[in-house]
Amino acid sequence: MSQVSQAAISSPETSVDPYVIEARSISVFYGSYMAVKDVSLQIPRNQITAFIGPSGCGKSTVLRVFNRMNDLVAAARVEGEIIYRGENLYSPNVDPVEVRRRIGMVFQKPNPFPKSIYDNVAYGPRLLGIKKKSELDDIVERSLKGAALWDEVKNDLKKSGLALSGGQQQRLCIARTISVEPDVILMDEPCSALDPIATQRIEELMHELTERYTIIIVTHNMQQALRVSDYTAFFNIRKAGEGKEETRWGELVEFGETQQVFTQPTQHETADYISGRFG
Ligand SMILES: Nc1ncnc2c1ncn2[C@@H]1O[C@H](COP(=O)(O)OP(=O)(O)O)[C@@H](O)[C@H]1O
Ligand SMILES: [Mg+2]
Repeated sequence: MSQVSQAAISSPETSVDPYVIEARSISVFYGSYMAVKDVSLQIPRNQITAFIGPSGCGKSTVLRVFNRMNDLVAAARVEGEIIYRGENLYSPNVDPVEVRRRIGMVFQKPNPFPKSIYDNVAYGPRLLGIKKKSELDDIVERSLKGAALWDEVKNDLKKSGLALSGGQQQRLCIARTISVEPDVILMDEPCSALDPIATQRIEELMHELTERYTIIIVTHNMQQALRVSDYTAFFNIRKAGEGKEETRWGELVEFGETQQVFTQPTQHETADYISGRFG
């Protein structure tokens, strides 16, 4: 990575741009199949943006573009640009590992490492070269507090992360993500494996996290999008041709403030979707 791009990617303090990430005409292919076509949008800083739309419309695909997770999917190819801190994340001189530190991800199914609670959270900082115990202790405490888990686990830090409840495991994964001080947290249906009470805790936590981070959440639950998000992007499936010739791909239909999208959508398709007529 060049000096310029290293600085651009790794210094959070210097930027005052109201948008943290901008997608410019993104299309994503799996082999020859175009899954998503020509998506452009700007993600507002320190806000929660929800991606909604029917299954298969490309929400997860677009989310993964934002931290180069699709690099790990064989045959996936991205066209267009993702601008983050003035630089295209897909430039050849950008290090995808550094991108994933700045833009962290929380998955549908909580996936703690089979390690202690402490070691789960200290994992990323250790990879970054932090060795001093007092420093790691501080990071672990701060991250667990940030993820609203500290009080429940502070006397059990040696216990396996896998011994926690599902909701606690998901908060542990959030603590693990924030331990390396990201800018953005991507969440792909983070509550779909959780009960309503654990879901409510994560939703409350998301609000707290926006003080320091920008969040993008994929959710198939429109009530959740309405409850938690400031902005909503509605994606839908487009079709062309018939029978064997039929092709399908996802497109961004509407993007705006959540209240506006849900109460005064500008597109008929959005109105139909949010009123439950399809999807
Ligand atoms: N790894 C993959 N390989 C091939 N096709 C994929 C892959 N992941 C997703 N797709 C396809 O891309 C389209 C969008 O999928 P996805 O982004 O998972 O949608 P959503 O998250 O909105 O349900 C779907 O047609 C899906 O089958
Ligand atoms: Mg998905």
